[in-house]
Amino acid sequence: GIDPNFDKNRETAGEENGVTVWGPVEPPETLGIHGTHVAVDYDICVADGACLENCPVDVFTWVDTPDHPESETKVEPTREDQCIDCMLCVDICPVDAIDVDPG
Ligand code: SF4
Ligand code: F3S
Repeated sequence: GIDPNFDKNRETAGEENGVTVWGPVEPPETLGIHGTHVAVDYDICVADGACLENCPVDVFTWVDTPDHPESETKVEPTREDQCIDCMLCVDICPVDAIDVDPG
């Protein structure tokens, strides 16, 4: 699953769709972690979609990630500032790709 200490163990590698990306990033195979308060490990996400479908405040948006080995779409936490820390997405993701830090 996602490293809960990614913000200490990784360095930022720019922004995509208004969301901070934590490297390493080497497309199309390696896409890093997207988001900070709500963080999605793009290299673990398999596009299950349960997070996006069940988030009560619609934090996530689908984005295309062509030729990524795990899945060709991912969820971008574009409205992570709206997150109410319910932890539903963290609990529901089948591959533990999401970390939410209520801190
Ligand atoms: Fe949405 Fe809850 Fe996940 Fe925050 S913790 S992104 S509110 S499902
Ligand atoms: Fe991906 Fe997990 Fe959501 S696989 S689409 S982060 S439920």
